[in-house]
Amino acid sequence: MRQKIVAGNWKMNKSFQEAEDLLDEILEIMEEEKGENPQMVICTPFPYLELATDMMDEFHPKIGAQNVCEFENGAYTGEISANMLNSVGVEYCIIGHSERRKYYAENSGSLVKKLDLLLNEGITPIFCCGEVLEEREADKHFDIVRAQVEEALFHLNSDEIRNVVIAYEPVWAIGTGKTATSAQAQEMHAYIRALLNVKYSKDISEEITILYGGSCNAKNARELFSNPDVDGGLIGGASLKAEDFFKIYKSF
Ligand code: 13P
Repeated sequence: MRQKIVAGNWKMNKSFQEAEDLLDEILEIMEEEKGENPQMVICTPFPYLELATDMMDEFHPKIGAQNVCEFENGAYTGEISANMLNSVGVEYCIIGHSERRKYYAENSGSLVKKLDLLLNEGITPIFCCGEVLEEREADKHFDIVRAQVEEALFHLNSDEIRNVVIAYEPVWAIGTGKTATSAQAQEMHAYIRALLNVKYSKDISEEITILYGGSCNAKNARELFSNPDVDGGLIGGASLKAEDFFKIYKSF
């Protein structure tokens, strides 16, 4: 279901105590905000997921993980399964983030498996795609994103794809302070929606939530979110401070 979403990706930040304090602060600010649109999602490191799901009430916000194992269970030392995430109340999971593609060789082959396992557990995947700077400069950004979307997502049937959130994160904008312009974001989001239209249907393409990520902050969120095909944001650095994150959340 298409929904306005502001999701925070804490990445590998915060001690347990700092995580608890930040969640407390967010909950305090969110006290008055009982609703599901926009939906706030907080993707914490693995060790804090149970703390986070325990702290949330039934409405708001939802808790997400930042990765999941591509295998179901068994002898995969150091890995975390989709079933484990579900068992501690996790409702979203980021997959295919450019940092994982770059440092951990995440590719479409493993993403296909991760998607299937998450959907089986009723966890909403937040599937990330996006081009690096050289690809944009060579005018290949549409081709790159199309390949990423097709290879990882297009094995899903119409019912399954409805349960996926897509995040367009141009890699050159992540953690750089260099945000995509509002027009660049809208153009790519509309392109992704057009791909979904061709593969599935107009109705399905209109049902899918597409988030923007990459140096999105309290100053630029409103303009980015005002675009017809931008349904919210996946926020890194600015999600680590409750006030900034809340300002972004209120930017629709
Ligand atoms: P920044 O907001 O820090 O640029 O990070 C974006 C991101 O990677 C979210 O997943």
